[in-house]
Amino acid sequence: MSQELKVGIIGTGVMGQDHARNFAAGIRGGLLVAVADVNTQAAQELADTVGAEHVFRDGGEMIDSGLIDAVIIAAPDRFHAELTLRALEKRIPVLCEKPLAPTAEEAARVVKKEEEIGEELVTVGFMRRFDPGYLALRERLETQRDGALLMSHSIHRNVEAHPDGSSEDTITNSGIHEIDIIPWLAESPIVRVEWRGGRPSSLITKRQDPQLLLMEDANGTLHTVEVQVQAQYGYDVRCELVCETASVELPRVPSLVEQNPLLISKDLTAGNDYPADWRPRFAAAYRAELSAWVSAALERKRPAGAASARDALQSTIVANALVESMHKGETIDVPPIQEVLG
Ligand SMILES: NC(=O)c1ccc[n+]([C@@H]2O[C@H](COP(=O)([O-])OP(=O)(O)OC[C@H]3O[C@@H](n4cnc5c(N)ncnc54)[C@H](O)[C@@H]3O)[C@@H](O)[C@H]2O)c1
Repeated sequence: MSQELKVGIIGTGVMGQDHARNFAAGIRGGLLVAVADVNTQAAQELADTVGAEHVFRDGGEMIDSGLIDAVIIAAPDRFHAELTLRALEKRIPVLCEKPLAPTAEEAARVVKKEEEIGEELVTVGFMRRFDPGYLALRERLETQRDGALLMSHSIHRNVEAHPDGSSEDTITNSGIHEIDIIPWLAESPIVRVEWRGGRPSSLITKRQDPQLLLMEDANGTLHTVEVQVQAQYGYDVRCELVCETASVELPRVPSLVEQNPLLISKDLTAGNDYPADWRPRFAAAYRAELSAWVSAALERKRPAGAASARDALQSTIVANALVESMHKGETIDVPPIQEVLG
């Protein structure tokens, strides 16, 4: 591998463009040389904007082309496992957007293939692990100065739902971020889950919104997560850790000075703007994730602290258990990862 990592991106929609712009702004050690999308016009437009040399319609062909050293997969969820396996066939490092796969069976195939190869080639884009706020929460817990973690409460609200999404997608595509980050914070796997719907919003008929995910970890700590995909007012992510002697939480998004420095008082009211989606809220995390991945991929390693294929399989197993709870209306014990791997 050359000293500069030649990267290709598959999927040139919202996330693919975001990663490409980060490369264009400069990621030390990395160069975006190719993009692929079934919508070749979108791919060509992005290539022209960011100066990527090669454009493909088929992501698999780009992986096999010999033109790239590593690949970012930002196509829709259902293609993630298949494209990651294709990259593993070529033994090239992958940064796969979350989730690794919507089903545990597909994610398990990736874990087995990577373990058979015996190299750390797969990183999954759970970028909250690189967010300064979540990192500070974890460091605070590690100091143990607030006593034991007793409970956590998270909120994940999007302005508007993806038009094709289902109630299940709310868990496997949106809630999956909390399903990854909460056991990472608590340093304890989720062992039992329960899903509740409650009064639905009249603004969205295609899926139950909001949803309440209740998760219990191996220490018996309970974690509540409200996921709402049609919240209208703004992109809002919150997390509160309830410890024995303190409550520790992320600041409310609009108060983060770096993103939204102004408090406007006008027309008899005061406030500041919410971001419309995840990109401004997690901009620092996406950049840090990409930089760490490029540096690590040059050494054929996964960045320290990033989500592995195994971590991502674990989160998909929990997400699938929550979907089962939704369908059966009962509490579900999460199967151990070894049982799923067979
Ligand atoms: N980490 C995060 O915070 C975050 C945020 C949003 C989305 N995502 C993930 O990123 C991925 C992409 O999401 P998005 O919002 O950019 O979606 P999007 O719909 O904006 O873009 C997807 C792109 O993939 C292309 N595409 C579809 N099938 C393809 C295929 N087989 N091969 C190549 N390209 C194909 C589409 O034409 C489209 O341009 C999803 O898996 C999503 O879950 C992650």
